[in-house]
Amino acid sequence: MSTQHNPSDIESVLHEDRMFSPSADFAAAAHIKSPDQRDALYKHSIDDPETFWAQVARELHWFKPWDRVLDWNAPDAKWFVGATTNLCYNCVDRQVDAGLGDQTAIIWEGEPFESASPEVRHLTYADLQRETSKFANALKSLGVKRGDIVTIYMPMVPELAIAMLACARIGAAHSIIFGGFSASAIADRVEDANSKVIITADGGWRRGNIVELKDKVDAACTQNDSIDHVIVLKRCENTINWHDEPSPDHGSKRDHWWHDLIDAASDECPCEHMDAEDLLFVLYTSGTTGKPKGIMHTTGGYMVFTYYTSKIVFDLNPNRDDIFWCTADIGWVTGHSYIIYGVLPNRVPTLMYEGAPNHPGPDRFWSIVARHNVTQFYTAPTAIRAFMKWGDEHPQKHDLSSLRILGTVGEPINPEAWMWYHRLIGAERCPIVDTWWQTETGGHMLTPIPGAVPAKPGSCTLPFFGVDAAIVNEQGEEQPPNTGGLLAIRKPWPGMLRGILGDRERFIQTYWSRIKTPAGEPYYFPGDGARCDQDGYFWIMGRVDDVINVSGHRLGTMEVESALVSHETVVEAAVVGMPHEIKGTGIAAFVTLAPGAQPSDELRDQLRAHTANEIGAIAKPDLIRFTDALPKTRSGKIMRRLLRDIAAGNDSVGDTTTLEDLSVLARLRQSEES
Ligand code: PRX
Repeated sequence: MSTQHNPSDIESVLHEDRMFSPSADFAAAAHIKSPDQRDALYKHSIDDPETFWAQVARELHWFKPWDRVLDWNAPDAKWFVGATTNLCYNCVDRQVDAGLGDQTAIIWEGEPFESASPEVRHLTYADLQRETSKFANALKSLGVKRGDIVTIYMPMVPELAIAMLACARIGAAHSIIFGGFSASAIADRVEDANSKVIITADGGWRRGNIVELKDKVDAACTQNDSIDHVIVLKRCENTINWHDEPSPDHGSKRDHWWHDLIDAASDECPCEHMDAEDLLFVLYTSGTTGKPKGIMHTTGGYMVFTYYTSKIVFDLNPNRDDIFWCTADIGWVTGHSYIIYGVLPNRVPTLMYEGAPNHPGPDRFWSIVARHNVTQFYTAPTAIRAFMKWGDEHPQKHDLSSLRILGTVGEPINPEAWMWYHRLIGAERCPIVDTWWQTETGGHMLTPIPGAVPAKPGSCTLPFFGVDAAIVNEQGEEQPPNTGGLLAIRKPWPGMLRGILGDRERFIQTYWSRIKTPAGEPYYFPGDGARCDQDGYFWIMGRVDDVINVSGHRLGTMEVESALVSHETVVEAAVVGMPHEIKGTGIAAFVTLAPGAQPSDELRDQLRAHTANEIGAIAKPDLIRFTDALPKTRSGKIMRRLLRDIAAGNDSVGDTTTLEDLSVLARLRQSEES
């Protein structure tokens, strides 16, 4: 089993028995106030999921109610069968219709901080209604229809939220690509989704520099001819290339300024009545093959699940002065679910920040918390480890007393980082919710409920309502406490993925084939190893497949290997995860070179740049070792376990009896390091 922890972390996790309970005042004011209340609701949600979720769904707006809550024909789930709704309506119009149009929906802060204060925008629900309507009409004017997939490659600006909500408004699905991905990554995703329209910007600000988004889109357009229209938001007054000429398949020009389109658009656009099972979005994520998969989420179930997890896990309350801030980029699922779709229907302002955590200084996040009175703060362990390293003085400079709840997501949090977060940021007062979930699950699956579930540092604690999680062996048998095994989900939940775009076989193979009941009923297999302790608390051990979690971002080792071998000097590459102080897991690449190519630091730099070009900067290997052979079994399989040990610097590499050529190991150990 691969694990993302380094050995000292495993030790501390295994012996972690500290428990942190919420204060009585906190619990009394929370939606779920006690362990007993949580347990009773959990039991109801498992014994009778249909009534449970129907009750939750009634808190939202539907144009037409459902005929049945659930149709389950493993692995296919249909939730809220026969119902129609619109997620943009629930995020925006519903508040306007209730007379709350002038309340703040989004608080946005730009990165540049040259003057005394940064650029800040407050968008009300009425602003969002007007802007999403205009932009929805602009999309329609370019021929976008219900059912199309629109690609979005934008910086973290309010127009990104407007673009995704406008798609939901007219029933077009979106495929958002994180701004750090390369032109090739965009081209692959555009082609897979058959997108005709891509929305981008002349740039975005990151650590004081402009991220050249439009250039990448231009390059992606030369790699495939599916794109008819490129919509460009002016964000940075950056000089960009402009394509006025029509693309071959349609009569109008290719590039359009965002502002020109919306100037010409009406601000009235009714929300489409969408079937609960209509596609809401596709989001690409890495798997065990070289090709990322387009995870499909549909409208009704995803809406109910993200709304309710936001409400309960972050204890959102529109009748208090809550300001919710999730620091993720909207290009990842965390941003989809917990910046926009789950938060806005709760009628709590959501904060969006454009840039880096350390620009202009390492206290930027804390200055944002203090200036905007953030009450719930949600970030990744990798960020917390970076803050620890930058020093306690940075959070200590700011008044963080508005904070009520802290959250983490994306990778296991080591107890040391948990304790730092608890002490320095939470002042030993704020419950921490360590939320385990995935792109595929849509929302939180294993998580504390802040007023009701005492936390243990490093554990994501208990399953959320309706989530039937267990630790099982390969035969699907539940494991006793404190025995490592595979994490499995045994019942459908509303936010679950509905498939992989265009690849039914891969959907079944990846998620529904590995673990089955003795009767042959499949369980959902997320790809993580875990254990449950004597209190039923879950402890995630890391991925058990060839996926690694780098700074909480998911990458397939095969994806990085394919990028490396596409370089002319590389014959073979094997990529594994290795412990990394800040990133949690770093990328180690073992590379054999073509005859004539010489190992050198220069070549290492070239290979790093090449990987960034093929995938994105997040995929750059932290360590590249040149070797004349890779350790293989007699049947030719690369022994990644050995490579993981070597990359981690472990001297004892365990069982090598299946290794074909033992001398490879010695040579690998001596291979030049970077
Ligand atoms: O390995 C788990 C890890 O991140 C994977 C999901 O990655 P992704 O789809 O990119 O979504 C990340 C944000 C939801 C999981 O399979 N992971 C996520 N949250 C945690 C975690 N590992 C341990 N603890 C967590 N809280």
